[in-house]
Amino acid sequence: MMRNRAKGLSIDRNLDSKRWVVVLSIKLSSGKEIPIEMHKTRMVQKIVLVPVEERVKAMAEAGYNTFLLKTKDIFLDMLTDSGVNAMSDNQFAGMLRADDAYAGSMTFYEFADAVKDVLGYKYVMNTHQGRAAEHLLAKVFIKSGDVVPTNYHFTTTRAHIEILGAAVLEIYYDDALKTESSNPFKGNMDPQKLKNVIKKYGKEKVAFVRMEATTNLIGGQPFSIANLREIKQICSEHGLLLVIDGSLICENAYLIMQREKGYQGKTVAEIVREICSFPDLFYMSGRKNTSVRGGCIGTNNKELFDKIRPWLPVYEGFYTYGGMSMREIGAMAVGMREMVDPTVAGCSVEQIKYFVNRLVETGIPVVTPPGGLACHLDAMKFLPHIPQSQYPAGALSAALYIASGIRSMERGTVSMDRNKEGKEVMADIELTRIALPRRVYSISHIEYAIDRINWLYKHRDLVKGLKFVWEPPVLRFFDGRLEPLGDWGRNLAEAFKKEIGNY
Ligand code: F0G
Repeated sequence: MMRNRAKGLSIDRNLDSKRWVVVLSIKLSSGKEIPIEMHKTRMVQKIVLVPVEERVKAMAEAGYNTFLLKTKDIFLDMLTDSGVNAMSDNQFAGMLRADDAYAGSMTFYEFADAVKDVLGYKYVMNTHQGRAAEHLLAKVFIKSGDVVPTNYHFTTTRAHIEILGAAVLEIYYDDALKTESSNPFKGNMDPQKLKNVIKKYGKEKVAFVRMEATTNLIGGQPFSIANLREIKQICSEHGLLLVIDGSLICENAYLIMQREKGYQGKTVAEIVREICSFPDLFYMSGRKNTSVRGGCIGTNNKELFDKIRPWLPVYEGFYTYGGMSMREIGAMAVGMREMVDPTVAGCSVEQIKYFVNRLVETGIPVVTPPGGLACHLDAMKFLPHIPQSQYPAGALSAALYIASGIRSMERGTVSMDRNKEGKEVMADIELTRIALPRRVYSISHIEYAIDRINWLYKHRDLVKGLKFVWEPPVLRFFDGRLEPLGDWGRNLAEAFKKEIGNY
């Protein structure tokens, strides 16, 4: 009965995308193209824009780290797209219907059915979020001295791998770090480099090969199916496990649909299924694509699944809840089906495209082509006078908040932890990430962001570097406190007040 109800939700008007041509970007009669939302707002939350004086104070109190700001001081929260998306009406219904039971809840089986239908996996377990899945995978498959080749690491992935004494090897193509580019698939892994790694370390040292869909830290850049197929081939030849981090799999699939030869006629759902047919193990943070606070690990390989499963109750919870509340699993069961609807998979991609292209028009250094996660400013080009040792991306993130009340995230050297000797590890690129939570902000919010970024660019000389005054030993970007070198925050606020006013 419950199963039928869940299936009923999956075929309602919201998901029947084959009935019409999906329009997510629309041409106005003037010729201008704008992203268009295929949803309406039925519940709202008030936000405030505090005056620039207050913003500069709040930034100082937060140790020039945007993670430490309080939401009462934030206008547009573009820190992340994780756990802050707008859920659908059906997801809320899924929460209310959820069957609270410590063990054996039918809501879990509804979720498992959705995973089977959407991702194609027979075996699935929930985890409380993506990094908990990473923890379990690292615990079971990684030993000290191993290496994990990846198309690019994510912060928490890297921490779990390194804590166990293993190393992450980034084996992207040489142009992946070129921020201004026309390469549609900067998230591809270089197959030749993978072969070299296997030769150099020996296959027994390769814990697994990890492909991230889309590569978060280098601008939400997708990989192509052609590349994934090639990487799978190499893994199979050498008996290596292939793991996909599918936290942003739907955006990757949507971009494949738009950019990869031969995929224009396919649906996001078909492409997601195809991506999922390659890896031995799949995991995701559900906080992004399914708009729910949770995560999961999926596979069709029972042997691998059975290696991980015993650890689930030790670290997360019983098999049928895995550290999540049943209500969240109820919403995730619906979100899993909804995420492959192109109006969901493409909603932030289209906003990001508009945002990025508008900034390109006025010469602002941003990551191109637009990716599937955020608009990323290239901080080394935006603030060329700030050396990497003074954290240009951190400074730009703080400056953007002062100039606009927008919270972005540093994705550069602050997000890298020190090495074993305590030395700074410089990031490959310094990005300020302005994320677009799904179905949360409107085009006027994006227009406002574009305007303030342009203002800041004209006043970039006022922005100087930062230094750490306190840093934790691991994942320092979350909690670390910094100080501006010179009182530049105040100078920037003064210039803003003079030219624009309090707001
Ligand atoms: N993998 C990727 C690619 C991610 O983007 C994230 C989280 C994780 C794993 C970890 O998942 O947060 O559910 O534990 N990314 C968030 C972000 C934090 O802001 O980009 P989690």
